Amino acid sequence: MEKKYTILAIETSCDETAAAVLSVANTQKLPKITTLSSVVKSQIALHSKFGGVVPEAAARAHVKNILPVVTKALSDAGSQLSAIDYIAITAGPGLVPSLIVGVEFAKALSFATGKPIIPVNHLLGHLYSPFGQIGKSAGLQTSFPMISLIVSGGHTMLVLMKNIKEYKVLGETVDDAVGEAFDKVAKLLGLPYPGGPEVSRLAKQAKHPVIFPRPMINAKNYNFSFSGLKTAVLYYIKDQGLKIKDATLRADICAGFQEAAVEVLAAKTLRAAKQYNARSISLSGGVAANETLRDALRSICKEQNLQFFVPVLGLCTDNAEMIGLAGAFMLYNGFKPKNPLKIKADPNLIL
Ligand code: KG4
Ligand code: ZN
Repeated sequence: MEKKYTILAIETSCDETAAAVLSVANTQKLPKITTLSSVVKSQIALHSKFGGVVPEAAARAHVKNILPVVTKALSDAGSQLSAIDYIAITAGPGLVPSLIVGVEFAKALSFATGKPIIPVNHLLGHLYSPFGQIGKSAGLQTSFPMISLIVSGGHTMLVLMKNIKEYKVLGETVDDAVGEAFDKVAKLLGLPYPGGPEVSRLAKQAKHPVIFPRPMINAKNYNFSFSGLKTAVLYYIKDQGLKIKDATLRADICAGFQEAAVEVLAAKTLRAAKQYNARSISLSGGVAANETLRDALRSICKEQNLQFFVPVLGLCTDNAEMIGLAGAFMLYNGFKPKNPLKIKADPNLIL
């Protein structure tokens, strides 16, 4: 029998205050999920003058924004708190002060209304984010095993999804996350935060992309390393002296860095897909918004005859819709909410 419910999802793990309302129908096959609203209040303007996220300032902004954001998500959805069945909240990983604001807000809501809480791992949100259009992606059930590449400002990991419920982390970065490397390269070039979109925008004007190293591309594991690549960019920039002001040179550096990072990510994803006889590849996280990376994985999938799952752009960077999606899949996979007052923010939560 079809069971319908509504989820209010909240995300505050880093510098976006976000809330979304999702309607879910659990059919016998897969949950049918409809996003009724999704509100993201960005703090970019607040942090850009510091060149990165300032945790204390982020938490204060979450405190200020969370009630208006949740209220707007409910009203955009034409819903109200009494109509909500579950509250999904990001429990970790992320910045402690930011996470605490969301988690304690959700606990207060739960205490006042009696609604159960689904504590969601932020990375599970990214992992399930490509399935946002679930009603439309009819092929999902025939797409496992799936190799999932999660690329964000805090994480870079390859995950083997055996089915919609079981997954295993195959490898991750041993130092910087790829998004972090994009941000640091941008900073070296004096570009604003967040650097990823800026670097990829400049890269489009490149004439002769600089050749940078491809760290760990041939390593016989699925780990990544981006700190050496960032350092190679740093030394290259230092070597250029005053020439670094030249717009084409800057574009060539951005394109060269982007090509090196994308080539490593694509090569390792392809190798994992072959080793595990994958039937599909999925891509998620903030860096999944990068066109060069999307195109690289899309063409691998075409060549290898694999399905490709990638979120729409708005679902790549942090949002609450993906937290609601993960919550819906957790319920579908048998998760039973526990005492909400025992839920704690965990900055080091692992997948
Ligand atoms: O998933 P996300 O919003 O936050 C974390 O969970 O970390 O990812 C943010 C990261 C930032 O490092 C940002 O520079 C990067 O995603 N990013 C991009 C692009 N858009 C965002 N990196 C490369 N190309 C982009 N177009
Ligand atoms: Zn994220």
